[in-house]
Formats: sequence, structure tokens, C-alpha cells
Amino acid sequence: MALKNDLLIRTAIGEKTERTPVWVMRQAGRVLKEYRDVRAKLNGFIELVKNPELAAEVTIQPVDILGVDAAIIFSDILVIPEAMGLPYEMLEKQGPIFPQTIRQPDDLKKIRIANDDSLGYVVEAIKVTKRELNDRVPLIGFAGAPWTIFCYMVEGHGSKTFSEARKLLYTQPEMSHRLLKMITDSTINYLKSQIKAGADIVQVFDSWAGILPENQYDGFGLKYIRKICDAISEVPVIVFAKGAISSRKAIAETNCNVVGLDWNMNIRESRQLIPDKVLQGNLDPAVLYGTLEVIKKETKTMIDAFGKDRHIANLGHGVYPDMEADKVKCFIDTVKDYSGR
Ligand code: CP3
Repeated sequence: MALKNDLLIRTAIGEKTERTPVWVMRQAGRVLKEYRDVRAKLNGFIELVKNPELAAEVTIQPVDILGVDAAIIFSDILVIPEAMGLPYEMLEKQGPIFPQTIRQPDDLKKIRIANDDSLGYVVEAIKVTKRELNDRVPLIGFAGAPWTIFCYMVEGHGSKTFSEARKLLYTQPEMSHRLLKMITDSTINYLKSQIKAGADIVQVFDSWAGILPENQYDGFGLKYIRKICDAISEVPVIVFAKGAISSRKAIAETNCNVVGLDWNMNIRESRQLIPDKVLQGNLDPAVLYGTLEVIKKETKTMIDAFGKDRHIANLGHGVYPDMEADKVKCFIDTVKDYSGR
């Protein structure tokens, strides 16, 4: 069946549309009271991710409450390491941890390439969501980029520097490539099963792209993003590599359709570097701490800088959990009104 609102998909494949589509990274989550209510019924985040009915419910909340032009399936990038054999835990207020890590060649024996069977709960959540969305808006599938997943599998938790992961690139380059290749193959299998289940477009999140120098990012990061983009031809692909300032052109040269910008990436300079691809982003999320006046003004300035076409409006990274839902809605409404005028 045809989508009733297909602005995001048409824009992603390069068509001109009547206005700029808008969605928000981390739109399904703690910023919504309705999310916190569902979450409170369960014993934690991972239980919610593994419950297809409730995952579908929180996936659809931002469509109903915020009026975004797309839903993004409620899950996490860390389901891939778990499906490969490294389970994770989500600690309240601290974030994810992995009791086991991969730090030497022998550790690779602990893990395997993930296939559909181990991620059936996400596939099921996508099917339930598609049924309940009833084609109102497209559904975004997603995965972490191999380099970002590698960071968590090696380090075992979040970090400012990910120095264990970066160390391994220099001390064990061959092993690093073997691990990145296994993650890449798992990710391709995973994205393909999301697409088969109904995902209309997919985004690859490389949250830690910015901690590598350009040559290392090319060899250990982009190399595997290229493989993913080459493998996915069924739906459009968005690549969001946070902090990859020096690699914007190289990212645009992959087979992706859309390049995501973070809020430090200058919009006009990025357009010059990437003249022929669609861009996504990139309002500083902290703008949403401002007054409604400030939010409207900054959002209009952003829309003007990107121009009318080839732009998907978003924040430059995920919305912060302590923001007010009304302010997020003000950003979304301003994009819709101002770009469609
Ligand atoms: O709305 C959406 O964007 C869909 C859901 C989604 C989540 N995580 C839910 C989530 C998506 C797309 C992600 C991606 C993700 N997860 C990334 C890449 C994007 C980014 O932000 O850079 C990363 C690095 C992770 C790993 C992760 N998951 C961390 C570091 C944390 C802890 C920090 C935090 O925000 O609490 C999570 C937890 C997480 N993932 C939550 C949600 C809603 C909060 C958990 C809760 O409800 O208690």
C-alpha cells in the first residue's frame, strides 16, 4: 500500500517536495511522558526493546504526539553485539555496559556473525509497527556503524576517548579488521531483515566517527560503511557520522542517499563539499532549551541555510531526555510551516 505521507522517502531519493520533511533523532524516548509511563511498567529498557507490542507503541508515540514525518523503530544499536554473543546491560543513569569484551584475537572465538534468528524480536516489532502505523508515515530502520559498535564491544562501556578501541587499531590491526568485518556482515543481515519486515528507509549511526583521525576513519570506519551501502539497494540509506568533519566528501562518495550533518558542520560549506546528495540535520539540540521565540528563529535560519530542496530537517544529534516535549514540537511545527510557505 502507498504511504499517505511519503515526504521523507521522496526527499531522500532526490525529488523536490512541497515542504521539508522533519523527524528527530531519539524522538522515541524519555522526552515523552507517554514513553516514561510505558517504560515504568517494565523492568528496564532491554525488556521494552524485546517486547514487540510495547516497542511498536513507543515507536508510534512521536507520530501522534509530535507530528513527525517518520517513525523510527524503537530499539538500540547494541542489539547487534548481543546477537553476536556479547550481551549488554543498561544501567540506570549510566548507560550500557558489556560484562565481556573483545580485546585479543582469542576473544573472537566468543562471537559469531548474527543472522535473523537472533534478532527476531526487532523484526516482529517492525511488523507490528507497520500494521499499526497503517502507512501514515514511513518507518525508519537503523543500525550502528561497524566502528561505533566496535567501540562498545572492545571498551565494554561508554567512554570519552574510547582509548582501548583506538589502541587496538594500532596494536592489532589485523584482528581489528576481522572484528569489523564480522560486525559489518551481521549489520547487513540485520538491515536486510528490517527491510524485509517493512522498514522503508534505513539510517546508519556512526556516533563515534569523530574520535578517529581522517586516515584511520577511512581505513577502519568508512571502508565498512561503504560495504553496507553497497549491499543495501532495496531502500534509501542515510549515513550519520557524528564529528566526521574531514570525511564529509568521502561519506558522500559512498552509495548512500543522504548524508547526516551534526551541528558543528557548517551548512553552506557542506553543500559545497556535497553538491549532489541530500543532507539531513542539523540544529544544535541545545537550541531546544531556549524559548519558543529562540527555537523558531534558529530553525528558520537553519531552513534558509539548507535551502528548499534536498534537505531532511533534524537535530544535529539526538534530543536530550530533559527537554520539554512542547519545545520539540515547536521545532517540528516551525519546519513544517516555514518550509511549506
Ligand atoms: O527514537 C529513536 O531514535 C529510536 C531509538 C534509539 C535508541 N537508541 C533508544 C534508546 C536509537 C536510534 C538509539 C541509537 C543509539 N543507541 C546510539 C546512536 C545514536 C546516538 O545517540 O549517538 C547509541 C550510541 C546508542 C547506545 C546507547 N543507548 C547509549 C549510550 C544509551 C545510554 C544513554 C541514554 O540516552 O540513556 C542508550 C540507551 C537508550 N537507547 C535509551 C533510549 C530511549 C534510554 C534508555 C531508557 O529509557 O532508560
